[in-house]
Amino acid sequence: MTASLSLTRAARLIGVTRAELQRKIRLGEMVAHDGMVTVGNLLACYPAAQLEDTAETQRIAQIKERAFGKRVFERALPEPEVLAARITELGRTLATSQAQVDAFKALLGRLWDKLDSTPAVSTEDMKQWLKQEVELAIEPGVINPLSVKDNVLSVMTAQVTILPSRHDFLVEGHDSLLEAAMRAGIPLSYGCSGGNCGLCKAKVVDGEVRRTRNHDYIISGAEKAAGYVLLCSNTAVSDAVIEAPVADSVQDIPFQQIEAHVKATGHINDDVLLLHLQTPRTRRLRFLAGQNISLRLGGSFSAVLPIANCPCDDRNLLFHIQRQPGNLFSDYAFDRLKTHEAVEIEGPQGEFILHEKSPRAQYFFAFDCGFAPIKSLIEHAMSLEVENIHLHWIGSDKQHIYLPNIARAWDDALDNFSYHEHIAGFDLRNPGGKRAETLGKLLQDIQIADAGMLQGNIYIAGPAEAVDAAESFFAEYGLPKTRVSVSRVK
Ligand code: FES
Repeated sequence: MTASLSLTRAARLIGVTRAELQRKIRLGEMVAHDGMVTVGNLLACYPAAQLEDTAETQRIAQIKERAFGKRVFERALPEPEVLAARITELGRTLATSQAQVDAFKALLGRLWDKLDSTPAVSTEDMKQWLKQEVELAIEPGVINPLSVKDNVLSVMTAQVTILPSRHDFLVEGHDSLLEAAMRAGIPLSYGCSGGNCGLCKAKVVDGEVRRTRNHDYIISGAEKAAGYVLLCSNTAVSDAVIEAPVADSVQDIPFQQIEAHVKATGHINDDVLLLHLQTPRTRRLRFLAGQNISLRLGGSFSAVLPIANCPCDDRNLLFHIQRQPGNLFSDYAFDRLKTHEAVEIEGPQGEFILHEKSPRAQYFFAFDCGFAPIKSLIEHAMSLEVENIHLHWIGSDKQHIYLPNIARAWDDALDNFSYHEHIAGFDLRNPGGKRAETLGKLLQDIQIADAGMLQGNIYIAGPAEAVDAAESFFAEYGLPKTRVSVSRVK
């Protein structure tokens, strides 16, 4: 077993989130150096991890099963070739360790011979001591279950560290390096996801990767020799270190134009339509959670809408469309849009994105259909294992809290998440006059009930009028604009 573990691997072994370990390090409850913890320090913090399988591990497994469902199991096992390669790599590591043990024994043997040949009686005690020590070194004793777990984890997953950002993630099952990074919420550079464009080309600095599919993009001999591979067409065989750029602002995401198709539509209720678009396999939409794109339906009806899913599924794009009688886009979407129909999309745009490096708690306020970009942000925050997430969904009426089961399922499944529903009792697109007072009172009640809210990052999305009122509310409490992000949904 490695003497030191990365936080990602340590969190997986113990069955807690990476953020929890980071918090313990911040509070001085666990010692770490350069983002690595020793097994000893980990066990000092989590002595129960000595047990074969903790209740916590089982609980986390249940949470993941509920939260992500069948897909987790479908991708739990890697390709047989990759599995064999990983086991071979482990065999090599074991053989190296065995050779080191043999050498250690031989060294002690030579020391014994040397001491034996020395006539001085005073060395007798030393010989006895050495004899016992050698027997102890040879005797394996009780094997730490954590070591066994780590070996299994090494077979099932490989850990990849990205330089220079120092993001790290685990590669599981059939995932390519690119897919695994996206699942972990890390926005690497890429284009087609299919081996054609070369935008995901990156340099392997350490570790072993393996090509999992052929690609048309040609990597020159010199680049191959320098360790360059396509992240969309390779997986990790062993733990690896890779040099690759990571997008950390909206400016790093290119403008894209794609012809997508309607995969499905569904009426969530009389006023809200769920639109599911699918892009071609080789033209996926690269975006940051919380961003908008422009959609053109029927060749001429356009609207800019927030994407309601996280960037980890860049091919399947979800939108929540509100019925607005007389609005040509809305009328077309509700009454005429057909499955398989072409939809032109352009973007992404917007700066409503997660402050993912901030240690502050994250407070989300969704007004009516503002839930769409908030859902994207929360799913992304969950991929990053961000702690301390609070969602307040404020509906004009009950009907406008149109997907409560999703938020309630997050609340049930995650310790670090709280969810509250509130009914305004009037149309949030028109909160002027007395209604503004009512909305202010509602926000004040929420704030009084949660003393930590004003120290957190605030995200507000919904109709412009309600967002403006909420933005003013937080400005009056002196929150800087850098901590209050807004998205006005049409
Ligand atoms: S994303 Fe286009 S080649 Fe990998």
